[in-house]
Amino acid sequence: MKVFIHAFGCQMNKLDAELALSHLARAGYARCDSPEEADLVLYNTCSVREHAEERVYSNVGKLKFLKRRRPDVVIGILGCMAQKDQGRIFERLPHVDLVCGTREFPRIVELVEQARRRRGVLACGEAGAVREERDVRHRAHPFQDFITIMRGCDNYCAYCIVPYVRGREVSRPMEEIVDEARRLTDDGVREITLLGQNVNSYGLSFGRPGALVELLERVAAAPGLARLRFVTSHPKDMTRDILQAMRDLPAVCEHLHMPPQSGSDRVLKAMNRRYTAAQYRDLAALARDIVPGLALAGDFIVGFPGETEAEFEETAALVRELRFQNAFVFKYSPRPGTAAARLPDDVPEAEKRRRNQVLLGIQSRVNLEENARAIGREVEVLVEGPSPRDPRRLIGRARTNQIVVFEGAPALAGRLVRVRIESSTALTLAGRLMPDAGATLT
Ligand code: 5AD
Ligand code: SF4
Repeated sequence: MKVFIHAFGCQMNKLDAELALSHLARAGYARCDSPEEADLVLYNTCSVREHAEERVYSNVGKLKFLKRRRPDVVIGILGCMAQKDQGRIFERLPHVDLVCGTREFPRIVELVEQARRRRGVLACGEAGAVREERDVRHRAHPFQDFITIMRGCDNYCAYCIVPYVRGREVSRPMEEIVDEARRLTDDGVREITLLGQNVNSYGLSFGRPGALVELLERVAAAPGLARLRFVTSHPKDMTRDILQAMRDLPAVCEHLHMPPQSGSDRVLKAMNRRYTAAQYRDLAALARDIVPGLALAGDFIVGFPGETEAEFEETAALVRELRFQNAFVFKYSPRPGTAAARLPDDVPEAEKRRRNQVLLGIQSRVNLEENARAIGREVEVLVEGPSPRDPRRLIGRARTNQIVVFEGAPALAGRLVRVRIESSTALTLAGRLMPDAGATLT
């Protein structure tokens, strides 16, 4: 039997697709690259914005011809959109056989078998922790990987559907995570990113708030691990000792994804973010003070209900001032059931688009300037392999996450090397491999 699986949305969704695949592989399924070849077609879905859902509906909509030709193909919708829309998915996509929510996919094999016997299987239970039985053979990248350390979110930011579709915040036991990290490094992984909707509150659900620091220490000790990252940090839960761990643990990269969402106090309050723009600025300054060379990344929402031009300008000022390394900008999308969905979505689409473009324009200038400042510097690069655009060159990432391209032997893949930067664009750094240092860094 062959399975085609595709994940929309965030990194956790991609990892969940891999988990589902591990279970299916044990039951004898082999992965294939297109729905045409498959006996089982699965989409792990995202509900964070309406656009993400439309893409799923359009992709899965097209499968109705496949289902007509081969009625024995099982088509399943997994994840956030399944949890949110449940049985309504069968109405809109009558050729779907299985709808499986965010906490049920470890039962995927049994559910698929049920769906082969009778169509219309719905499994969207809310209770129970997800068993994370991962089979490292299905990993997507040889040297770099992710570990889910917590699931769900209790923050209820007014715009966000996550607490409703992924449920209450639950942290995984530390032993389990450390063990997974070791299995990954045994398999050649050099860089691990710890994932959670709000990693700064790791441990809270088992009565040990602040356990992230210990977790970082223990994962950083995995043999052969060169780099460790963690995402996403909520500004209200950031503590000095997490920043100090970032400074003191050599593997932990100087890269912090800590979304401000807005630069306006009125909007932040309406978003239920529980910090002010001034507090965010102070926190960014503290972080940069404690962690030299820190790169900050953040998410922004434009066009939140009632966002005035002046309030948007406050966000633009924040983006201009804080010189993020990366800014992800999203147009507000009302999500049914959230607090903000009760407010009028009153910023016109064209205006949201304009605000989006303004922020991206500011950020792109910042990137151009900051990357130009890197010229002449030496940066540590974890080599990924030949560049897909130009196979004569290698591609990798700096500790602060910029893409770096340079000439070198493909055998350097998976190694840490030093590259002297010679040119740059807003998106990449290009340079020359430093010959001797490569060996010393392994
Ligand atoms: N509309 C637009 N953007 C959203 N995000 C979350 N919910 C919404 C929404 N309803 C953004 C936030 C979050 C990122 C993952 O997606 O910026 O940090
Ligand atoms: Fe959504 Fe806020 Fe939780 Fe992030 S912290 S997942 S934005 S509710």
